[in-house]
Amino acid sequence: MTDTAPLPPFAAIVVAAGKGLRAGGDVPKQFCQWRGRALIAHSVAALRDAGAEPLLVVIAQGAEDDAHQALAGIEGYRLVTGGATRRQSVRAGLEALDAAGAPDRVLIHDAARPDLPRAVIERLCDALESHEGAIPVLPVVDSLAIASDVGTMKGAARREDLRRVQTPQAFRTSAILAAHRAWNEKRDAGDDAQVLAASSGSVALVEGDERLAKITFANDLKETDKVPAFRIGQG
Ligand code: CTP
Ligand code: MG
Repeated sequence: MTDTAPLPPFAAIVVAAGKGLRAGGDVPKQFCQWRGRALIAHSVAALRDAGAEPLLVVIAQGAEDDAHQALAGIEGYRLVTGGATRRQSVRAGLEALDAAGAPDRVLIHDAARPDLPRAVIERLCDALESHEGAIPVLPVVDSLAIASDVGTMKGAARREDLRRVQTPQAFRTSAILAAHRAWNEKRDAGDDAQVLAASSGSVALVEGDERLAKITFANDLKETDKVPAFRIGQG
């Protein structure tokens, strides 16, 4: 597929209501600068450019001014108030989408993953033609140890059976909304694919992208020049 392959109509929800505790600092990471603009602005702009409509940005209560300032210059997004967990923030976004009357495809994305290649969106939309959900994954390259409570090795996991899961995750809107509504509120979920899978929805795995890595720690916010090894020691 080329960079300009047409995409079907889809809505998007960007979740940005977290506190960024692991990144620390006075300002939640989504409002910190990264590559010349607020972290949150990168993924919202990428989804806007890909044609997401409606485009909902889920933020914490009271963060409206910060969000509008961080998203200055980006047209056509709407703010929604999120919840105490990521799952609750997504649910709030889905309910707002339902009230707004959305297309039957939705991409749910972390604001903390700023570098969103269009090719991933294309792969997700393709897979959604034959599945209720589609998620970008990458292989695990290290071997995996299962840890005991006392910090010794209890066993090993087969890395061939495991994948690293990223966002955006794409869903048939009706299926993911029903799955979230059916979810046991007492439990949390790591992501929305888990919520859909718990409702027996089929989730396709498509190729992810290292650029979608999540900004989690303060160091991730810092620009590090990736100097090719052969240049080290020169000039
Ligand atoms: N998120 C959210 N609502 C929450 C918690 C998280 O919308 N109650 C969003 C975050 O803003 C982020 C994404 O979910 O874009 C992924 O979460 P994570 O990287 O864990 O961000 P935080 O929860 O903010 O960070 P931390 O866990 O370190 O506090
Ligand atoms: Mg978190």
